[in-house]
Amino acid sequence: MEECEIKIGVVGLGYVGIPLAIAFDKKYKTIGFDINKEKIEKYKNGIDVTNEVGNEKIKESNIEFTNDSKKLSECNRIIVAVPTPVDENKAPNLEPVIGASKIVGKNLSKGTIVIYESTVYPGLTEEICMPILEEKSGMKCGKDFKIAYSPERVNPGDKVHKFENIKKIVSGMDEETLEKVANLYESVLKNGVYKASSIKVAEAAKVIENSQRDVNIAFANEIAIMCNKLGIDTNDVLDAACTKWNFLNFRPGLVGGHCIGVDPYYLITKVEKLGYNSVLLSSSRKVNESISSFIVDNIVEKLKSKNVKLDEAKVQILGVTFKENVNDIRNSKVIDIIKELEKRNIKVYVEDPYANFEEVSKEYNIKINQNENNEKVDVLVFAVAHNQYKNMKANEILEYLNENRIVFDIKNILDKESLISLGIDYWRL
Ligand SMILES: NC(=O)c1ccc[n+]([C@@H]2O[C@H](COP(=O)([O-])OP(=O)(O)OC[C@H]3O[C@@H](n4cnc5c(N)ncnc54)[C@H](O)[C@@H]3O)[C@@H](O)[C@H]2O)c1
Repeated sequence: MEECEIKIGVVGLGYVGIPLAIAFDKKYKTIGFDINKEKIEKYKNGIDVTNEVGNEKIKESNIEFTNDSKKLSECNRIIVAVPTPVDENKAPNLEPVIGASKIVGKNLSKGTIVIYESTVYPGLTEEICMPILEEKSGMKCGKDFKIAYSPERVNPGDKVHKFENIKKIVSGMDEETLEKVANLYESVLKNGVYKASSIKVAEAAKVIENSQRDVNIAFANEIAIMCNKLGIDTNDVLDAACTKWNFLNFRPGLVGGHCIGVDPYYLITKVEKLGYNSVLLSSSRKVNESISSFIVDNIVEKLKSKNVKLDEAKVQILGVTFKENVNDIRNSKVIDIIKELEKRNIKVYVEDPYANFEEVSKEYNIKINQNENNEKVDVLVFAVAHNQYKNMKANEILEYLNENRIVFDIKNILDKESLISLGIDYWRL
């Protein structure tokens, strides 16, 4: 398979795809394809919908943004970065990755290497995607085209660990493909690549990276629940334990988003089919999924302790995105808190400096930034550690509160002692 100039096609221009396309565009002719017409229009107009690279980089780039899948036939490296969510039963929803494989298959040129970047369970690239590529292209994998897998490690909102400076795992269906894919990524990365021994190994490495975080945070969350029962402060306990050289510093919190709270289900489902029930992963998911309810129970308890009737109670939530300093609201566990409070007839106000009003309204039927009259609330919940909230002064915090002065510091971003000294009834996980 000798070839001429490398031409890249990135399929799926979201939080993963857009930084990839921008990085490759510096060196290679790059086509950015997405089925979402609105998104493509925005990129064409120099708007970065993900906020990951910024409008300037989009405007400066030479990426050819398109909805026209035929354009992919001009590429000899196609990188697939479409979503891999779960359905309502927490089973892998493979629709996007199957859909993208069909599109790529139909527009595949001889000699192309198709590289999957979407997070998948071990085996998916070869067992599900490859046969679709063969069927739709009428070509033979290994002879006419090749497949590879390189999981993505970008961390939206993280300005330190960016695509260019993190080590990337690469894998390929054979030695030649592995070398080509390694060379390709090495040409745009500062910290190089790690060559995994097979596609399946690379797929597994990615899901266990995120599963490990899920398990560790689940343990921190369980510690929080236990400390709550014991009447001691979780963070005081963790700070003390952290003085041991090999204690891992994980803190409790909400596990939302589309990676850590989702990827373990891919592994759980896959190994279940192989006859193994991963007790640890399943329990960790259960613990992490239960934290929103645990927080709501504690809010209700606090309100009751102040004799506030639930249907008269008011709660202000600060932050609705799934993590700090990003606009991504997918699978945000703050939503669960809001919905559960509302179920208990509590009036909830929500604000967020990053989230898009229409998106939150459409996705969750929640109207953000509506407390225009600054109505005082009983409980102020710091749900997301956006910089704006981390830097909030005591007088700004007091502005929100009525005489009940309850503050829930879910992300542990406030100075507990100084708030208590102001007469605030302070709670954290
Ligand atoms: N966002 C992260 O932090 C992150 C980190 C590591 C890995 N990942 C993984 O990377 C993958 C992509 O995640 P993301 O956050 O970029 O998703 P995203 O939803 O931000 O973007 C995916 C894009 O793919 C497009 N798309 C969907 N189906 C398509 C199809 N058939 N053809 C072409 N385009 C299609 C969507 O319109 C969307 O623009 C997922 O598997 C995810 O688990 C994400």
